[in-house]
Amino acid sequence: MILLTGANGQLGNELQNLFKEKNIEYTPTDVAEMDITNPESVKAMFDKVKPDIVFHIAAYTAVDKQEDEGKEIGYKINVDGTKNIAEAAEAIGATLVYISTDYVFDGTLTDGEYMEDDAMNPLSEYGRTKGLGEELVREISSKYFIIRTSWVYGNYGHNFVFTMQRLAQTNPRLTVVNDQYGRPTWTRTLAEFMVYVIENKVEFGTYHLSNDNAGTWFDFATEILKDTDVEVAPVTSEEFPQKAKRPQHSVMNLDKAKATGFVIPTWQEALAMMLENEAKKNN
Ligand SMILES: NC(=O)c1ccc[n+]([C@@H]2O[C@H](COP(=O)([O-])OP(=O)(O)OC[C@H]3O[C@@H](n4cnc5c(N)ncnc54)[C@H](OP(=O)(O)O)[C@@H]3O)[C@@H](O)[C@H]2O)c1
Repeated sequence: MILLTGANGQLGNELQNLFKEKNIEYTPTDVAEMDITNPESVKAMFDKVKPDIVFHIAAYTAVDKQEDEGKEIGYKINVDGTKNIAEAAEAIGATLVYISTDYVFDGTLTDGEYMEDDAMNPLSEYGRTKGLGEELVREISSKYFIIRTSWVYGNYGHNFVFTMQRLAQTNPRLTVVNDQYGRPTWTRTLAEFMVYVIENKVEFGTYHLSNDNAGTWFDFATEILKDTDVEVAPVTSEEFPQKAKRPQHSVMNLDKAKATGFVIPTWQEALAMMLENEAKKNN
């Protein structure tokens, strides 16, 4: 039985679909069923479900808010919450799958790709708390996967793809940052990899998983809007100031995930599939 945290989020919804498709038994939880910051709530759920696998994806994901008013709650969810989940999983011998982020890196590696064991040096409070979550998982869990991903979007919830599409309805011209490099990730590819590592008994440890090929937010926006008349214009990060500092170049190396035999689509292929799903949903 898989216990899923953060089931109502972007990735949570995608995982639930995949579990149903594959007839995998799971228990979905979000804050109403199990508040991960409350150890009693976590214990009660683990006692009831007795999972042998835990997919821990619940997180505080408001990156800019976490720089000020969300700082305390972000720490509580991403650090204390992850500790509660890791301890509860370890106490019953369950395997833990924890999702982390490219924001644990500072993005100064401009002519290469981050490897799984490169040193973390987050620039934001979000990256710092997700990195602390990783450290707790490594310390507490004997059977774990830490999967770092980046620029996540999917058919459920708020994300960059929907934001661009919404803005395109009322603006003939959009300006998008063209000096941050990374890899967009479709929730479906990530969800499939999470299930793949369990089903194929992949060696425990830390993995990077995003869609293949790299690009900038400008490249991503251009591809999203390629069938529209909207002009997408490049700007620098300085021209588009945000509260939280983002890594300039957070391209993560995917060789370790590929070596497991998992086939990773490019982000352009993944985006096309996601948009096709969206079109089907709306027809
Ligand atoms: N989005 C990205 O670009 C990105 C990039 C790299 C890594 N990640 C990681 O990928 C994972 C999934 O991200 P996502 O985009 O699917 O996030 P999301 O849509 O924000 O979903 C997170 C879920 O966690 C829930 N949650 C928050 N506090 C909780 C608590 N105390 N107890 C239980 N559940 C709680 C949220 O509920 P509420 O909505 O009610 O608060 C939400 O349903 C996260 O671990 C995130 O750090 C995301």
